[in-house]
Amino acid sequence: MCRLVLALLLVAGCRPKASPERIVTLLATAEIHGTPEPCGCQSDPLGDVARIGGLFQQAQRRGPALLVDAGGLRRTNQPIPEAAEAQAQLKAHFLERTFRDLGAVLGDDLVQPEVRTIDGLKIGLLRLGAAPAPVVAGLRSQGADLIVALAQVDRATARQIARSTPGISILVVGKEVGEGGAPEQLGETLIVQPAEEGQRIVRIVLHMANGTLSTRLVASETDRARERARTQQKIAVLDNEIAQLEKDPTAEPAFVATKRRQRAELAAALAAPTPTPSGSYAIAELMPIRHTLPRDPQIAAAMKVLDAAVGEANRTAGEKMAVPAAAPGAAHYVGLEQCELCHDEAVNFWKTTVHARAWNELVQVNKQWSFDCIGCHITGYGQRGGSAMAHVDGLTDVQCEVCHGPGSQHVERPQKMRLKMPSDNDCKSCHTKDHSDTFQYAPYLRDVLGPGHGEKRRTALGEGPTGHELRHAAQQKAGGHSL
Ligand code: HEC
Ligand code: HEC
Ligand code: HEC
Ligand code: HEC
Repeated sequence: MCRLVLALLLVAGCRPKASPERIVTLLATAEIHGTPEPCGCQSDPLGDVARIGGLFQQAQRRGPALLVDAGGLRRTNQPIPEAAEAQAQLKAHFLERTFRDLGAVLGDDLVQPEVRTIDGLKIGLLRLGAAPAPVVAGLRSQGADLIVALAQVDRATARQIARSTPGISILVVGKEVGEGGAPEQLGETLIVQPAEEGQRIVRIVLHMANGTLSTRLVASETDRARERARTQQKIAVLDNEIAQLEKDPTAEPAFVATKRRQRAELAAALAAPTPTPSGSYAIAELMPIRHTLPRDPQIAAAMKVLDAAVGEANRTAGEKMAVPAAAPGAAHYVGLEQCELCHDEAVNFWKTTVHARAWNELVQVNKQWSFDCIGCHITGYGQRGGSAMAHVDGLTDVQCEVCHGPGSQHVERPQKMRLKMPSDNDCKSCHTKDHSDTFQYAPYLRDVLGPGHGEKRRTALGEGPTGHELRHAAQQKAGGHSL
């Protein structure tokens, strides 16, 4: 019987391995901070729990897999205004439920160290605070093959813990993670740091040989590709130098020979086959959660339900509150139908700009009643005599008064009550780094001015890139836009 199997394997062209390999995957997140998905304003929006779920299920198909969150899952550390509290709670519950459904281990809730068995593999889990916990040995004695510490400390403290606490296999940094950090080996411990808001997660793939797990770090395919690209760049620089030297009769022959030798060495390194790692090892990488990754359909559907619930809660609460009136003697917002009476050309031009579809952009994703979104896709939000949650009539989209200020007094006495002209700081109240990564004043201004609206200024700006071009180029670079 054994022989038959062996023969079949040989026929199939593969030799039976002495030690069958197993692939174990650990995905780690931290400081999701109540953010199920990104806003979509950026040209390369990162993060999305539905995509993280998709990656996790993909990992499960390869072998045992575990998702861990090092802490800060449910909400931000920032104070939340009372009106937005219901929304924050709904999102927190959603995240908790989603992570639980994926069988995730939450650092926020891990009171006692525990051992989880996944496909016969025992993973010891513990939460670490600032003071190192001496429980590692205890987990090992319970038979843990791997010890994962969810550390609610910053990276510098994590390093100290790794040095002073032997036995931790993987230490996930869970505080002040920012944009995440490169995985690093400190003795037997692998220190990893995901980015906040699920923008980048850590994926650790443990290649298991002879039934043992090891956290010996081996370069990932991405690391190697980056290294190859760097070598190629160096070769190109050398080629250029050598070509120059060959044309130069005064060039020192020994110097030229050195350059040629350097080039040959780099070329040889590039041509050499990549050594296949052997034994048990780990590959760890910081993975950006790009919008080109597939979403888990169930989580995506649940997010739609969440958006509807958030909208309903916010609207109901908003309707109970009135918009504060403008201060005595100050103007209030009137909406562009009023402006159109005298500035129809400006209005017609504005209708061709992207600002005219800002509200619809939210409606399309049913997020117009989210406190996370409404403020920048509308006119006069949160201003006295302006708009507020559930009070948006006539003020949806980024209208004239966003840039020129509230117009009620100007409408009554146009000559006397003049409106202001905006500066780049006005744009930056919405075109922030987090919502408009390609923003530059002059290029963006080129798009909002034209025939019938600030044409003189538009002409003065002259030729040059437009905001739309900058953004489009960035979107293309990020793999197109699928939102
Ligand atoms: C009743 C007619 C009327 C309405 C309504 C009106 N405007 Fe005007 N607007 C004028 C006139 C007339 C001027 C030119 C004033 C001047 O140059 O003396 C003007 C000038 C302006 C200017 C240039 C100001 C400057 O100092 O150069 C801006 C900006 C402006 N309007 C915006 C608006 C906006 C925004 C609205 C809607 C909220 C609006 N206007 C509604 C008649 C109107
Ligand atoms: C701080 C202000 C701000 C907030 C808050 C905000 N946005 Fe935006 N959004 C912008 C700006 C500015 C742009 C235009 C970016 C650019 O073109 O450079 C934009 C663009 C967009 C786009 C257009 C993408 C495209 O190119 O088609 C979408 C969709 C969008 N936002 C959705 C949202 C959603 C959903 C939320 C809430 C989760 C939100 N925004 C919250 C400012 C904001
Ligand atoms: C109240 C918030 C707000 C302010 C203030 C604001 N914008 Fe915007 N802007 C937006 C939003 C939201 C979008 C995206 C609308 C969409 O995609 O539907 C946007 C989009 C744009 C775009 C489109 C880029 C593209 O991809 O085509 C340009 C250009 C732009 N804004 C220029 C400006 C300039 C210039 C100013 C200042 C003079 C300014 N904006 C001020 C909210 C704002
Ligand atoms: C994104 C910001 C923005 C929005 C929105 C906007 N404007 Fe302007 N507007 C400007 C800028 C910038 C100028 C030119 C200032 C300069 O000349 O330096 C301008 C100039 C003007 C002028 C001066 C006369 C002219 O045409 O040169 C008027 C009038 C005016 N806008 C009316 C409007 C009206 C009406 C709307 C709404 C339909 C509107 N603007 C929407 C930014 C904006």
